Amino acid sequence: LETGRANIPRVLILSFLPLLTLLVLLYSGLDSSTRTLSTPSPGLILPSNNGHETNSSSSSSAPAETVAVVHPQPGSHTRSRQSKGHHHALIDVLPDHTFLQILSHLPTNQLCRCARVCRRWYNLAWDPRLWSTIRLTGELLHVDRAIRVLTHRLCQDTPNVCLTLETVMLNGCKRLTDRGLHVLAQCCPELRHLEVAGCYNISNEAVFEVVSRCPSLEHLNLSGCSKVTCISLTQEASLQLSPLHGQQISIHYLDMTDCFSLEDEGLRTIASHCPRLTHLYLRRCTRLTDDALRHLAVYCPSIKELSLSDCRLVGDFGLREVARLEGCLRYLSVAHCTRITDVGIRYVARYCPRLRYLNARGCEGLTDHGLSHLARSCPKLKSLDVGKCPLVSDSGLEQLAMYCQGLRRVSLRACESVTGRGLKALAANCCELQLLNVQDCEVSPEALRFVRRHCRRCIIEHTNPAFY
Ligand SMILES: *[C@@H]1O[C@H](CO)[C@@H](O)[C@H](O)[C@H]1NC(C)=O
Ligand SMILES: *[C@@H]1O[C@H](CO)[C@@H](O)[C@H](O)[C@H]1NC(C)=O
Ligand SMILES: *[C@@H]1O[C@H](CO)[C@@H](O)[C@H](O)[C@H]1NC(C)=O
Repeated sequence: LETGRANIPRVLILSFLPLLTLLVLLYSGLDSSTRTLSTPSPGLILPSNNGHETNSSSSSSAPAETVAVVHPQPGSHTRSRQSKGHHHALIDVLPDHTFLQILSHLPTNQLCRCARVCRRWYNLAWDPRLWSTIRLTGELLHVDRAIRVLTHRLCQDTPNVCLTLETVMLNGCKRLTDRGLHVLAQCCPELRHLEVAGCYNISNEAVFEVVSRCPSLEHLNLSGCSKVTCISLTQEASLQLSPLHGQQISIHYLDMTDCFSLEDEGLRTIASHCPRLTHLYLRRCTRLTDDALRHLAVYCPSIKELSLSDCRLVGDFGLREVARLEGCLRYLSVAHCTRITDVGIRYVARYCPRLRYLNARGCEGLTDHGLSHLARSCPKLKSLDVGKCPLVSDSGLEQLAMYCQGLRRVSLRACESVTGRGLKALAANCCELQLLNVQDCEVSPEALRFVRRHCRRCIIEHTNPAFY
């Protein structure tokens, strides 16, 4: 009985979702001029097609595509009009908690639209429980303004602070500027998770302000924010020696992929201020050198996941520093770091026995020798990519097969020296294999059939027309 009752709302939600979507669509399809008339004080203008434009020139010439987002509560004069339209709408029979669950699946833009339907929808759409997350999309969205209006509305009951808001996702909102982040920093002391990937116009100052004023911030995604060169506390915050921080920033997850202005000195400052980092992604931060990595292990001993893919100046000395993370390190990507050879991989193998994931694709100096050290020292390895390593051959794979029998994913793409012998060794020993990439390898269909027979759950990615 218990489980039966718990299932009812879910069934209801599923059956009402299409209806709700239809309502939202119908509603947003209305002629925009009537709406503007019925709501004389729109707080904010959003492109109505939710950022699906790929072409800014065409849509900037279409100012009519607007939707007002924050409005006064629908009053009695609109109600009489609406009650004619939605006389016995089925959705009205849903209890509040079920309705709230449906609304909780909507992105912020649509939630704001729902608030315009009627008084009940308005009250439900602004339920504080729906507002721990703001998720906005759209290259053309006036996102600074959206944030200002939304935080203002959410601060209604607690002047100037918005205590409900914990997650803000603005990925791809290219119009975001420092002003938008400034508002978040001022109003949202409880912020834990901020994603501004691709918002390339934001600068260090705004980022400093956010990390200084939001002491709970744990997750920060700055991927593609190419103006950002550092993360630190504001001067004001560091002068105050605030006991809130103890001069530290509590970020655990930091993604600075494509922040290509980041230099060694910047990374040193980041490391010294963010000692709790566990996940750090620095893909294509091409100016970083081995020197930058010296500080990581010293200041951030808890790093579990580290990506240095395409940091082409990083070499074996850098890996020696990374290896000082020792048992913590589970995930390492050094794809296309062409200076890395067996020497560097050997450091990692020796000191990081708990490594589970290694991507060394395109590290052309890697040979069977390095692979053999890896195999013997890292028995927990689950995923390995040594694609485009022309010196890796069957004897390296045989070592892997012998010591790393828990391997699940292996990529040998374009490894010229690998043949069927190596594959068979792998397949015979690593029966948990789920993915094997042998595209552009010279392996026979017979060897591939052997793999298929031994590893039934393995997906084989290949370019051999004779194997199917
Ligand atoms: C963008 O719009 C312009 C003018 O409407 C058009 O000429 C161009 O082909 C469009 N580009 C894309 C990528 O759609
Ligand atoms: C970046 O923001 C500044 C104002 O902060 C603005 O003048 C400039 O046009 C913006 N640049 C882009 C590319 O959006
Ligand atoms: C950061 O955002 C980008 C783009 O949305 C995404 O691909 C990436 O996985 C995110 N990083 C983290 C650590 O979540």
